[in-house]
Amino acid sequence: MAEALRIGIAGLGTVGASVARVLSEKAAELTRQCGREIVVTAVSARDKTRDRGVDLGGAKWFDDPTELARNADIDVFVELIGGDDGPARACVKAALEAGRHVVTANKALLARHGVSLAEIAEKKGVLLNYEAAVAGGIPVIKTMREAMAGNSVSRVFGILNGTCNYILTRMEAEGLSFDACLKDAQRLGYAEADPTFDIEGHDTAHKLAILTSLAFGCKISADDIYMEGISNISQADIRAAGELGYRIKLLGVAQATESGIEQRVHPTMVPTASVIAQVHGVTNAVAIETDILGELLLSGPGAGGNATASAVVGDIADIAKSRPGFQHGPVFGRPARELKPYKRARMRSHEGGYFIRLTVHDRVGVFAAVAKRMADNEISLESIVQHAAEPEAGTAKTVILVTHETTEAAVRKAVDGITKDGHLTDKPQVIRIERAG
Ligand SMILES: NC(=O)c1ccc[n+]([C@@H]2O[C@H](COP(=O)([O-])OP(=O)(O)OC[C@H]3O[C@@H](n4cnc5c(N)ncnc54)[C@H](OP(=O)(O)O)[C@@H]3O)[C@@H](O)[C@H]2O)c1
Repeated sequence: MAEALRIGIAGLGTVGASVARVLSEKAAELTRQCGREIVVTAVSARDKTRDRGVDLGGAKWFDDPTELARNADIDVFVELIGGDDGPARACVKAALEAGRHVVTANKALLARHGVSLAEIAEKKGVLLNYEAAVAGGIPVIKTMREAMAGNSVSRVFGILNGTCNYILTRMEAEGLSFDACLKDAQRLGYAEADPTFDIEGHDTAHKLAILTSLAFGCKISADDIYMEGISNISQADIRAAGELGYRIKLLGVAQATESGIEQRVHPTMVPTASVIAQVHGVTNAVAIETDILGELLLSGPGAGGNATASAVVGDIADIAKSRPGFQHGPVFGRPARELKPYKRARMRSHEGGYFIRLTVHDRVGVFAAVAKRMADNEISLESIVQHAAEPEAGTAKTVILVTHETTEAAVRKAVDGITKDGHLTDKPQVIRIERAG
């Protein structure tokens, strides 16, 4: 049997401790599958005294993860610290430069520095595996990197943040407010004490940036993402969506257009009958549309110790199975130096249907004025309905419009016009509608 594969793990929190546990509990099975043993020989975290729920007695302790990456007797460095800079970046860079394979679950690091790290990995002829960084346990990286050769991707989109999907699912199922659902998510450990990163779309954006690179062969561009979170989604939106045959999801969408690639993260109305609308709670899903394959949807657990560890261990096992001297495939599906510059499509030229909810004064002529602003901007309407507003809106009325395909620029201009007309009693709500099968 080949020599054991020696693993160094930096970070022994939710994911790191789970990875160590799975490697220990499944040692015999992994040895059978990989044809060699996988042994954790070195570890690093901040607190040496903390019980990690797994016996790490045989592994050498390092206070400094970069020292572990550089000096330890390891074949694979597993980074599970987190963060886009600081120790995570330093130790991953050090490991790659020392010619070690790296496995990481760190989407923030890859979204910011993935291309430069990939260049080092490819120069050194080592692997940089990151299946757990996008959609946790769902094997989307492997699918896009290895199983779709020759396919041209036209759109990739998904539910990439379990916290947001949990909140939206409960708001719809139980008629609860956003705040009440967020508090529950925090109590259950699905949301951080400071939930901004999740609910305002940053986490989804990091994952989307990685998927965009894989889908379109371009450099990662995490700062070029249009982003809106879910904190202003109300019961009025959820109910109106339901009445119109839609469900609201926070989607990350990357799409090829004539003017470039759109990258956007925002609350989205998807048809209730679509497959992605059936993805509930903390579950994640990724849809990939290509010329050869058509549409593929992967769904499953997107976070948590076990699901994430499953992806990390899968990445480690791939390294265990790889043959010495074998040329490894490129990190983002094509050599890092050949990734094209990212060409951003302007959000104003986005084309699609729109849901617009207006709370208006109850007076004569408002309905006609709203319809006129739409017509002036050449927006054709699928429906326009007026009904009593929410009880807290007093005598105001609600006007709900659903547009046919139009542009973001036209919708923004029309809504600005309506706002200037002075008919609104509250901020207008605009939610994009996404085509989904
Ligand atoms: N949790 C999930 O469900 C999930 C899902 C997908 C991807 N990920 C990614 O996986 C990574 C780890 O997440 P996590 O949830 O496991 O985080 P976590 O529970 O906060 O664990 C972080 C670990 O890093 C250690 N650490 C922090 N600073 C360090 C330093 N300077 N030197 C050495 N160790 C240090 C901590 O040590 P102490 O324990 O001693 O404080 C802790 O063990 C992140 O990149 C995250 O985005 C997580």
